[in-house]
Amino acid sequence: MELKDINADLTKILVTQEEIHVRIEEIAREVERDYAGQDLLLIGVLKGAVMVMADFSRALLKHVTMDWMAVSSYGDSTRSSGVVRILKDLDTDIAGKNVLIVEDIIDTGLTLSWLSENLKSRNPASLAIFSLFRKPEMLKVECEVRYVGFDIANEFIVGYGLDYAEEYRNIKGVGVLDPHVYAPKS
Ligand code: IMP
Ligand code: MG
Repeated sequence: MELKDINADLTKILVTQEEIHVRIEEIAREVERDYAGQDLLLIGVLKGAVMVMADFSRALLKHVTMDWMAVSSYGDSTRSSGVVRILKDLDTDIAGKNVLIVEDIIDTGLTLSWLSENLKSRNPASLAIFSLFRKPEMLKVECEVRYVGFDIANEFIVGYGLDYAEEYRNIKGVGVLDPHVYAPKS
């Protein structure tokens, strides 16, 4: 059986695991200040936000509760379809709660704007978004993200929860995927 290092398909490492942890600690301090004396429910978007949620929730020095949602907008391609489906809904009622959506990446913004509209209709006390990565050039729709980890160029990245065709999520940091991996074969 061929043994291939999962890092071999990366053209470069964009952000190391250490850099991610430093940034997450900074954002955790901001969130603690902004929600001082208030309850906070973190909603992780499966599956990409699993690593962000694990590290961010542990960086917070306040009580939080957590819930998860799974939506699909991408399939196995590298382009957003704009069509969002709920694959797994929340287990809890968010009415009257302070909700912070925890996301891996905002690309076109279609997924998150759809998700925030959906969650707003459930009457939370407040709703904000934390996305670890954001591609500013790609924003197709108005979508207010209160906390952003890193603004990045328009490249397809994988690692730290981010996938291509469900693989590469378990790379420790985040890197740029060599386009030969997903370019159509001629
Ligand atoms: P949007 O609807 O275009 O904002 O897409 C958001 C979703 O697409 C994210 O939650 C990711 O699952 C996926 N996505 C967008 N850009 C990337 C990328 O560079 N690498 C991996 N997944 C991505
Ligand atoms: Mg994905």
